[in-house]
Amino acid sequence: MTGKRAGQMAMVAFMQAANVSVFAGSWRWPSTEHTYLDMGYYQKIARTLEEGTFDLMFFDDRLAMPAIYGDSVAEAVRHGARPIKLDLSIVLGAAAAATQRLGLGATYSTTYYPPYHVARTFATLDHLSAGRAAWNVVTSVNDAEARNFGMDAHLEHDSRYDRAEEFIDVVFKLWDSWEDDAIVADRDAGLFADPDKVHELHHRGEYFSVRGPLTVPRTPQGRPPIIQAGSSGRGRDFAARWADLIFTAPPTKTAAQEHYRDQKDRIVAMGRDPGLVRVLPMAYAVVGETEAQAREKEQILHELVHPMASLTLLSELTNYDFSEHGLDEEVTEELLESVSGIRGLALSLRRSMGDKPLTLRTLAAHRATLLQGPRFVGTGEQVAEQMHEWFDDEACDGFVLGATHLPGTFEEFVRMVVPQLRKRGVFREAYSGPTLRDHLGLPRPERIVGSQE
Ligand SMILES: Cc1cc2nc3c(=O)[nH]c(=O)nc-3n(C[C@H](O)[C@H](O)[C@H](O)COP(=O)(O)O)c2cc1C
Repeated sequence: MTGKRAGQMAMVAFMQAANVSVFAGSWRWPSTEHTYLDMGYYQKIARTLEEGTFDLMFFDDRLAMPAIYGDSVAEAVRHGARPIKLDLSIVLGAAAAATQRLGLGATYSTTYYPPYHVARTFATLDHLSAGRAAWNVVTSVNDAEARNFGMDAHLEHDSRYDRAEEFIDVVFKLWDSWEDDAIVADRDAGLFADPDKVHELHHRGEYFSVRGPLTVPRTPQGRPPIIQAGSSGRGRDFAARWADLIFTAPPTKTAAQEHYRDQKDRIVAMGRDPGLVRVLPMAYAVVGETEAQAREKEQILHELVHPMASLTLLSELTNYDFSEHGLDEEVTEELLESVSGIRGLALSLRRSMGDKPLTLRTLAAHRATLLQGPRFVGTGEQVAEQMHEWFDDEACDGFVLGATHLPGTFEEFVRMVVPQLRKRGVFREAYSGPTLRDHLGLPRPERIVGSQE
């Protein structure tokens, strides 16, 4: 039974500024538009999402082509497995110009960018979009990225998070380096801004030394909301401390409920209000005019994923070179020992397959196409019902919706699913205010007083 829980879902569109969506076969779908190098492509999708009153259009990022498999980019290039990633600040600028309300989120790595650069990029976007920016804080995932930034190997997991803690602290202080009323603009007196209200940081930490202040005044949202997707214990604590939106990728609904409870407990332990932090699993919706049509579509979509594209992406996600292993090789206990991050998925796949041996082909296809979240298949009404169930059963506070094809996924979702969610009262009919914080019901934060001299 649905309808047990009050409140409304948050809805985030998971976007890629790339030739392919997070679903590895998307570029091969017949109606997918190959205009991802045109500004109009992103603007059109942004307008569709705004029509569907999505909270946020959010872009992931990677600072390298997949190059872990066989120590080469060849397979990624051949199969279109994310060889392209455009610079996101420019893409979001284009999306901002085409919309008035839609939130605009981008991924920037704390491992490969300096904090001043990131603070400035998002402060600028927040001003130019009138309060719609959000930053997805990632520590990055693999050695391919390290090699594009003058390092041989990726930093070790916990040092990445140590660096990220200091990074985000510096970014917050930079965003707060101007008091809200610092600008006077008194032409007659010749006083532009009050120097007592613009503060230097003089930050000297383990990883960064930043004098400040930021060259951008305090922004409409005060601070753009923070997105985070850490799944390790350290990652979840980091998210509990800093994030407003937390992305997850649970293999099952039960796993989602466990993650949800654990994450909310950690938020409480940090002294924050768990009601103000949204936990959102990555999900796909395959929608049809009839259930049979949706099922057929799902089948075709699966056939579009080349097994080598899957394996290349699996290498990328796990930072493990699978080129020594054949696609039809069984996934052994020994292999699970050497590769981090796939044990949970392997176990749940084994369970669903009964006694049949699990091959690398099957594992890769699931990991790389699903990113482990749920897949809702059916008519608009059926998909809405399944999403409502997840929401009701406290498996989530909403979803990060991946695209199986573009722009079709979001057009179909807005046309067929959004009206059904609205009918159920679990999704907004209209935006309540102009900023992303308004959509999320987040107050504008006070400046961190006393942190700057
Ligand atoms: C929906 C979603 C989107 C993500 N987007 C990115 C991304 O754009 N770039 C990136 O480097 N990592 C991305 N990640 C990976 C996370 O940042 C994180 O590294 C991963 O969840 C593992 O967490 P851990 O480091 O705490 O183990 C994403 C994860 C999820 C679930």
